[in-house]
Amino acid sequence: MSVTIGFDVYGTLINPHGVITELETFCGDEASAFSRLWREKQLEYSFRRALMQNYEPFSVCTRQALDYADEVFQIRLRPEDKDALMATYATLPAFEDAKDGLEQAREAGFRLFAFSNGSADALESLLSHAGLRDYFMGVVSVDGMKSFKPNPGVYSYFLRQAGATGAEAWLVSSNPFDVIGAMSSGMRAAWVQRSPDAIFDPWGMTPTITINSLRALADAIGTARP
Ligand code: 2OP
Repeated sequence: MSVTIGFDVYGTLINPHGVITELETFCGDEASAFSRLWREKQLEYSFRRALMQNYEPFSVCTRQALDYADEVFQIRLRPEDKDALMATYATLPAFEDAKDGLEQAREAGFRLFAFSNGSADALESLLSHAGLRDYFMGVVSVDGMKSFKPNPGVYSYFLRQAGATGAEAWLVSSNPFDVIGAMSSGMRAAWVQRSPDAIFDPWGMTPTITINSLRALADAIGTARP
């Protein structure tokens, strides 16, 4: 059976900090720190909602995290400013290695899927806007499970939707919590460590492979087989 790959979207293919230029108009030098807190809170809210079984779409986690970051930094964004930032979030850019990495993985004959916390319609439009949608056989959203990564149920859901089994299926992610979640669910996983400063959680687990660019993915998976 051929190799199936689920690509994480936010943080792996698409840069969640692509909103920093727009944030600079509101918070100047604090834009990067604001963006980091926004992203951290977005993920924290998704983890908590999964644990509490109190699901709301990922866009709700994103919006509530924006409200939180605004409070912390005391920017006092107007509702229309927040709407504009959310609109930018819906059209975030791809990382510069995403297209090449996907192209090579497709040429290698791998079955490619996007697999994300985002809802299906948000992912379709985000990936289309970034010019990546056509690389994928399908887009799998956790929305079908009404939970979030790293609930093991969402990785099983991905495997069912992609028609794959754990041993033949890879998750590709820059997010260590996602890599650990997938491996705990029996998948293989590639950690995309774009910066040497990125730290993998010290949980006594090592990613199946670690790469510093998506351009290294197809070769690394080819070498790691079976
Ligand atoms: C995603 O699922 C975890 O944000 C990440 O796209």
